Amino acid sequence: MKEIRKVGVLGGGLMGSGIAQVCAQAGFDTVVRDLSAPIMEKSRRGIEKVLAKGIERGKVTADERDAALSKLAFTTELGELAACDIIIEAVVEDLEMKNAMWKDLDAICPADTIFASNTSSLTIAAMAAACGRPDRMLGLHFFNPVPLMKLVEVVRTITTSDETAETAFEFAKKLGKEPIRAKDNSGFVVNLLLIPYMLDAINALEANVASIEDIDKAMQLGAGHPMGPFTLLDFVGLDTTYKIAEIMFDEYREKRYAPPPLLKRMVIAGMYGRKSGKGFYDYTQDPPRVSQLGL
Ligand code: NAI
Repeated sequence: MKEIRKVGVLGGGLMGSGIAQVCAQAGFDTVVRDLSAPIMEKSRRGIEKVLAKGIERGKVTADERDAALSKLAFTTELGELAACDIIIEAVVEDLEMKNAMWKDLDAICPADTIFASNTSSLTIAAMAAACGRPDRMLGLHFFNPVPLMKLVEVVRTITTSDETAETAFEFAKKLGKEPIRAKDNSGFVVNLLLIPYMLDAINALEANVASIEDIDKAMQLGAGHPMGPFTLLDFVGLDTTYKIAEIMFDEYREKRYAPPPLLKRMVIAGMYGRKSGKGFYDYTQDPPRVSQLGL
């Protein structure tokens, strides 16, 4: 198995920041690459804030925070990822952009560097075919918020080598995560089941089965879910859900993955959920109120 000492993270957004944080906290030298200094400053501040909250809650000590921060570096230079043993990609969900980066990295990284994508919905095979090292490419799918969510889906393609898959599985364990093995089908395990569930909730709302609040309450109290589907949709992001649903619909050509018209309208209106302040709930109100969608 390959020894992992240094980790590269592509993208310092929501997921990249969380992934970089858990890697640094696990003691790996971690370098994050994003496109500009202000984005990276936001990423660094975000990580510091999460660690500060961890201290407040007694989950992290000040020494652990300092140790983690000392392991983190930020750069705009792709070249600074050349010495990494594994590179985890968490840039926007765009295959062309991801593949362009893999090609550039293939030219500068040693042949045994592992390439891992955090994609939610693209097939890993589409990246394996383009990255120049199909045996060293796989999916490592983390969940949001990364420092809290235990699961990592370790996704092997038909070309991933046993050694790559096992190295990545053990690496995920070293991050304190609970990895599972999944096949390279669009949606892997969690989104394969979760996306149709969330889309069905929107369909039920459009069919006037019940209100937003009552559907949320029903799934919390009747199915034991920690949050209802609309709260979850706002949390995941309606734009993200829409994109994933489109990709899965394109892959499987099944109605159950088709984004409902209401979801599309809300994305067009910029109602992305928590991140934009409004989704199925309005977060500009304290406490948040149900959005009036004219239904
Ligand atoms: P985000 O939009 O918060 O972050 C993406 C980051 O990538 C941005 O900071 C952007 O500046 C950066 N970026 C764009 N091009 C780049 C390049 N060439 N080099 C370096 N950085 C670049 O997106 P988010 O939510 O973090 O998603 C990233 C990936 O993670 C996507 O593939 C998504 O499907 C996946 N994912 C998202 C989850 C979520 O709940 N949001 C959950 C699991 C996976």
